[in-house]
Amino acid sequence: MPVPEAQYLSPIWRDDLFKGRVVFVTGGAGTICSMQTRALVRLGADACIIGRNVEKTEAAAKDIATVRPGAKVIGIGGCDVRKVESLKEAAEQCAKELGGLDFVIAGAAGNFIVSMEGMSSNAFKAVMDIDVLGTFNTIKATMPFLLKSSDARIMYVSATFHYTGMPMQGHVAAAKASVDSLMASVALEYGPRGVTSNVIAPGAIADTEGAARLISTDEASLKHHSKSIPTGRLGTVKDIADATVYLFSSAGSHVNGHVLVVDGGAWRRQGGV
Ligand code: HXC
Repeated sequence: MPVPEAQYLSPIWRDDLFKGRVVFVTGGAGTICSMQTRALVRLGADACIIGRNVEKTEAAAKDIATVRPGAKVIGIGGCDVRKVESLKEAAEQCAKELGGLDFVIAGAAGNFIVSMEGMSSNAFKAVMDIDVLGTFNTIKATMPFLLKSSDARIMYVSATFHYTGMPMQGHVAAAKASVDSLMASVALEYGPRGVTSNVIAPGAIADTEGAARLISTDEASLKHHSKSIPTGRLGTVKDIADATVYLFSSAGSHVNGHVLVVDGGAWRRQGGV
């Protein structure tokens, strides 16, 4: 079933906004990143999505390519962001097949609900390695290509857990704090060389595989969650995709070193106010 455009993009953007641009996305088969990619491709970009699962990544690439006639979307499965060589090969393949690399979305992330007590050192390390080392590796592998682009952008998909700390998410909160920090250093080091670096921090998003796996998504629970959000609703993947389009568009070219929180203001209440 094709995904209706209204589910991932507001009808306000110019059709050819990203014509001639190439986006490289880690975790690109996951719900949020695949919808971000879908929006960029719909608006003219070509894309290369990376994932560990071969079948899932290739299927997602094929599906995303249907949003625009002539769109080129490569799916590179079997690629683990913890292995820098594997990412370097993927970035090279992307540049060779699509003619370069202008935008990066570092979206690959590990997550499971577990208490500190129940978490082994290896479980903590697994998430730190995927989120933090994986983000560093993504920067390392793609930067040589970004530096050749006339308008280069990196974006990281983070979270809001680490602003206050979060029970059962101690590993993820620690990892996302590091991702935000890496973002800021890249903004300062590479801003002068033409590469902007920003974070999008989604709040609770109702329509993702991750949410379905990690939190209760029955109607009563969602209604309860919504009440704690100042805008009165949970986020959608479209909220994140629209924010991505803004940051990657020329309208976002002077935004660098910024965390764009897309959560309806919920993080301001995380402390319980
Ligand atoms: C406790 C767990 C666990 C769990 C794995 N481990 N799952 N511990 N509870 N549910 C432990 C394992 O026992 C092991 O420790 C260690 O973690 C490594 O696990 P492996 O399976 O060997 O590692 P690996 O194959 O590298 O997988 C790592 C993974 C990853 C982190 C589990 O596969 C993963 O998270 N996949 C899900 C990705 C995902 O959903 N991403 C969406 C993120 S969205 P021991 O000690 O036994 O060796 C998101 C927003 C959601 O984050 C917001 C809603 C809250």
